Amino acid sequence: PVLVVDFGAQYAQLIARRVREAKVYSEIVPHTMGVDEMLAKDPAAIVLSGGPASVYADGAPAVDPTLFDAGVPVFGICYGFQAMAAALGGTVAHTGAREYGGTEVRVGDGGTLLAGSPAAQTTWMSHGDAVHAAPAGFDVLATSSGSPVAAFEDRNRRLFGVQWHPEVKHSQFGQKALENFLYDGAGLTGDWTPGNVIAEQEAAIREQVGDAKVICGLSGGVDSSVAAALVQRAIGDQLTCVFVDHGLLRAGEAEQVETDFVAATGVTLKVVDAQQRFLDALAGVSDPETKRKIIGREFIRVFEDAAREVVADAGAHGEDVKFLVQGTLYPDVVESGGGEGAANIKSHHNVGGLPDDLQFELIEPLRALFKDEVRAVGLELGVPEAIVWRQPFPGPGLGIRIVGDVTAGRLETLRAADAIAREELTAAGLDREIWQCPVVLLADVRSVGVQGDGRTYGHPIVLRPVSSEDAMTADWTRLPYDVLSRISTRITNEVAEVNRVVLDVTSKPPGTIEWE
Ligand code: XMP
Repeated sequence: PVLVVDFGAQYAQLIARRVREAKVYSEIVPHTMGVDEMLAKDPAAIVLSGGPASVYADGAPAVDPTLFDAGVPVFGICYGFQAMAAALGGTVAHTGAREYGGTEVRVGDGGTLLAGSPAAQTTWMSHGDAVHAAPAGFDVLATSSGSPVAAFEDRNRRLFGVQWHPEVKHSQFGQKALENFLYDGAGLTGDWTPGNVIAEQEAAIREQVGDAKVICGLSGGVDSSVAAALVQRAIGDQLTCVFVDHGLLRAGEAEQVETDFVAATGVTLKVVDAQQRFLDALAGVSDPETKRKIIGREFIRVFEDAAREVVADAGAHGEDVKFLVQGTLYPDVVESGGGEGAANIKSHHNVGGLPDDLQFELIEPLRALFKDEVRAVGLELGVPEAIVWRQPFPGPGLGIRIVGDVTAGRLETLRAADAIAREELTAAGLDREIWQCPVVLLADVRSVGVQGDGRTYGHPIVLRPVSSEDAMTADWTRLPYDVLSRISTRITNEVAEVNRVVLDVTSKPPGTIEWE
């Protein structure tokens, strides 16, 4: 792999993705990892990421200079560039002249790294220190007003660096520089594709599983569906999927799993209809956290019961269910416990939460992949597009989109309103522009309306369209007025009980994406 050494900024994941976009497999490692351990991974190349520290600050993460003697090509970015310069005897100075944001650089002889990119170009910078003198043996490739040495390389030792952030789109020729490093500097070929991932994972899964049986909980979301499809491709009927229908899904979603997904992949599916059980457990409960806890608890119990049945069935045939499939993605692995919502719920649903008689080993075929890569793998595996492109949807489902207690009737109302909103957003071609659009029923609020000839006293529906990169922060999406208008007219006309549609114009923070 290409190792991306994380110096603590938010850019390491982005760098890893850009390397993969160049069709070269990459992995993120912490800067605290020793050089021996890095080399033990047999890296094809190493990228040192940016980071918040000053190279000369107390406790600033340093780079062990032996890294540069290992014969592995290295590309230092921003802080990684300065750390490299400092480690090899160059001069890094605190100039006071900070460069932030779009910054013009002048490229002289672009060398290997900047070959084919113009003499003047805009890059994205964020630094206070600057490299004033390159280490011996390095050619200076570019300068900017605040950075006497803005890019350098030692072609013979295959060491390269830039002061700017090539991984952000605001750096005009950033991807070009990264590819120059990978292809020409490090001599790699771009041949890592979703097809390779599938082939590799199939082999690995077969090897791990042998002739044991495997179980997988399907939620209807992208991750568990693609993970299941991949395992199915590898071991066929040795896999049994369990789908708990808790009755809190949106219109058509249970059918998507039970009919479309099964038809597309051929998995053996055990459906548990637990709708009434969840309604009973949620009866009269309106506190959001209590609802979440109840839904999480009931989900685990129902899944456990189903898993026990699968284990017992297999046992009756002398077979052993040894493994559980999880749709863990790379960002979860890297952040290990960071984030909120999704991550917490996932840890809730994993093996740690299962009782002793249900101890499975994990199969996590998507552990190395980012979301967009999971989608590409899913499409390649023939998973239905409606599932592959499904926007994020919370585990507790519509249960946390009804403000008030959850009843069958309220679910029906919300499902109808949500279906209309989704239909109109899809028709307007907006699905991939928005991150997600929760539709919320304010079941405890009523307002006066006039519909037909009469006074009504119905409930409001809230539209919460958001744009986001990762759900940690979000902004409300400026949907076209005509789309909002169509959604509003249709919901108030077609959904009894609803006489008002309102738009949530709050960013996150302060508002979370979901209302509960
Ligand atoms: P919030 O409301 O915290 O949501 O801004 C951030 C993202 O997480 C989703 N979300 C969940 N996903 N289980 C999940 O799998 C949950 O319990 C959960 N709660 C929120 C939410 O839809 C948004 O994408």
